[in-house]
Amino acid sequence: MNQKTVREMAIARGDQLAQFVFKNVSVINVYSGEIIVQDVAIEDDKIIVVGQCSGVEELDCTGKYLCPGLIDSHLHLESTMVHPSQLVEQASLTGTTTFIVDPHEAANVAGKAGINFMLDATKDVTGNVYVMVPSCVPASQYDDSGATLLASDLADYLDNERVLGLGELMSSDEIVAGDAVMHDKIELFRDKVLDGHAGSYDDKKLNAYRFSGVETDHECTTYHDALRELRCGMYVHIREGSATKNLDAIVEGIVENNLPTNRFTFCTDDKHISEIIERGHISYNVRRAIELGVAPVKAIQMATINAATCYGLKHLGAISPGCQADLILLSDLNSFVIETVYFKGRPIVPSADLTDSEIALNLLNSVNIKPLEQSDIQLTVSGEFPVINVIDGQILTHKTIENVPQKDGYFVADDIFNKVVAIERHKATGKVGVGVLKNYGIVNGAIASTVSHDSHNIIVVGDNDTDILACVAKIKEIGGGYCIASGGAVLEAVPLEIMGLMSRQDYHIVEQSVSHTLEIARKLGVNPNIDPLITLSFLALTVIPEIRIIPRGVFEVGV
Ligand SMILES: [Fe+2]
Repeated sequence: MNQKTVREMAIARGDQLAQFVFKNVSVINVYSGEIIVQDVAIEDDKIIVVGQCSGVEELDCTGKYLCPGLIDSHLHLESTMVHPSQLVEQASLTGTTTFIVDPHEAANVAGKAGINFMLDATKDVTGNVYVMVPSCVPASQYDDSGATLLASDLADYLDNERVLGLGELMSSDEIVAGDAVMHDKIELFRDKVLDGHAGSYDDKKLNAYRFSGVETDHECTTYHDALRELRCGMYVHIREGSATKNLDAIVEGIVENNLPTNRFTFCTDDKHISEIIERGHISYNVRRAIELGVAPVKAIQMATINAATCYGLKHLGAISPGCQADLILLSDLNSFVIETVYFKGRPIVPSADLTDSEIALNLLNSVNIKPLEQSDIQLTVSGEFPVINVIDGQILTHKTIENVPQKDGYFVADDIFNKVVAIERHKATGKVGVGVLKNYGIVNGAIASTVSHDSHNIIVVGDNDTDILACVAKIKEIGGGYCIASGGAVLEAVPLEIMGLMSRQDYHIVEQSVSHTLEIARKLGVNPNIDPLITLSFLALTVIPEIRIIPRGVFEVGV
């Protein structure tokens, strides 16, 4: 037994004083569901005593509550567009101290190097960051991603203590059909957690999907689907992020039907830093669940012990002897007012400097394209042509067949019929897909990005070729990101030089230039009922209906 353990046992028995004690604090006991006024002793990063004790330093917490640090059961750090450490810091200041992340975007651009970057970048941050290894790289057989990850590649992560399992298994059709590639991955991670991506499968498909071993899902948008998954023995991660908000619908159903909550957790999936600062992170989910009628202790259980149990994190999610001292001191329980957040026994304070880990050169030079000429983005049309219609407020698209404007057999874009171009950017294959896009509405300009789910190739929309080519050249120059051009000149660019997904800059700077890009997009007439950047970033996603553009051309989902 080492000296540290000898000392800790002496404190646990009450023979020695701990370094620090929360005195007379109302402890949220997530095991028993009780709230008990007690003392909590911590030493270094551990909780040693929960009961009556004294410490070298004591903090009188009369009238206050102590709750375990919150857990986000599923998120993608890349979607914040900044270095992962920045999201973790801002979210931890609002009470989230554990993050179960799926580096799906980084893996689709850079394969194992991308996953390794995300692991490294989150090693010394103010939270416990665990990784679910991306299971679908590429996302589908039609995608031109930067890497392909097979079971043999994923095997490298089996012994990594920060890897808890396999990330969201999106290729449900393949899994249900018994596809060998997917089942090899499942077999490899059989003893760990298999995260799902289900939502509203019919009963047969859900049954087969669950039988494969998938244990969790964060795609439920209705109480009905959540209940079906619960009955199947799955954990339901209730999602409330920036783009997708499912909490009210599911939690209202739970309250109305008085459903047991022990298989429900909270997640954000994707949540922007500005929204985290304004409304909280998982703390928002807890607060909102309480407002909807969930008992505060139950809401906290959903945000702590349920997720810890799901992912086998025995040392997290509770206040008990031996647990890691990730704690939240609350001045009010019902409205979940946070006074201080402790990570490994220390109060979290905003850091002055950015954490910047070593970034491999290939991750900083990820835009690899063949030189692009105007002739590469010409679209031959004759007669009626399939048009990709953006739907207001959604990432779904709708297909129509229309007579589009043309000259000499080539499509001529205008303010109604924009041109959309997808350019393979990982291996300079020269693949360029060109299509016609309606209801986006950019006039006298073009807008481009390398954030383009799920393969993150270059996507550009414009009403003229000059601005489209100017955008592509700028994207190449800045190493990926967003940019917008008009009259042949680039008006704003958001460099996301880490894999074309994230910036090394402070999030304030990134947010400023994103807002400026949005402002210009509005001035250039982009449909006010869509988010110009989010809509752009989902135009190439091959798993969402109905019609898409990818570097291989116009793609009809499920056809
Ligand atoms: Fe996700």
